[in-house]
Amino acid sequence: MLVCIPQVLNPKQVAHLRALLDAAGAAWVDGRVTAGYQGALVKLNQQMDEQSSVARECQAVVVAALERNALFISAALPNVLYPPMFNRYAEGMGFGLHVDGSVRINPRNGSKLRTDVSATLFLSEPDSYEGGELQIEDSYGMHSVKLAAGDMVLYPASSLHQVTPVTQGVRLACFTWVQSLVSDNAERSLLFDLDNSIQRLNRSDADEVARRTLVGVYHNLLRQWSKP
Ligand code: NI
Repeated sequence: MLVCIPQVLNPKQVAHLRALLDAAGAAWVDGRVTAGYQGALVKLNQQMDEQSSVARECQAVVVAALERNALFISAALPNVLYPPMFNRYAEGMGFGLHVDGSVRINPRNGSKLRTDVSATLFLSEPDSYEGGELQIEDSYGMHSVKLAAGDMVLYPASSLHQVTPVTQGVRLACFTWVQSLVSDNAERSLLFDLDNSIQRLNRSDADEVARRTLVGVYHNLLRQWSKP
């Protein structure tokens, strides 16, 4: 399930982050520092040093925005969020086909996080760079994603994906992983559809008993499928 979340950050927040990242200089490091064996072979980009003060300031903005984003919560059912990271693809940089590592160590506290959902938050306007498309493969084929600055895409961390080479300009983005309350993609997808339908019914004059029953079904399925 691919879910696009519009305007996770507003234009002012995007500009604030971009200014911090553009001025970060030496805090940009080779992206391979966090890549596993498979990823290091195909990864060519820059990443913000996770421990830098700039990274921490930017992380706080993104985390606060995600914590109050209803669509993100409904689609990802987050249990643990990896501290968001920031990357930069200049001309000639890209990240070939790979699957994200299944377990990551939180650099803040050493705890392990199972990556269920991958998230990319675009920070450059799509017309400011050529290439740099996020391509995600699922059972229906390859999907190209290039969103407006401030928008986010969620996709299963288990899926093959790549960032095509940037041929002009610079692509700045934020990315993170979610350990979801519901690790199974199909189950999480059903809950998302059910929640969306309930939200629509809430805005209509739907039969109250039927609506209440569906809300109960949602919560009882979530109770059954969630694994904190
Ligand atoms: Ni990846």
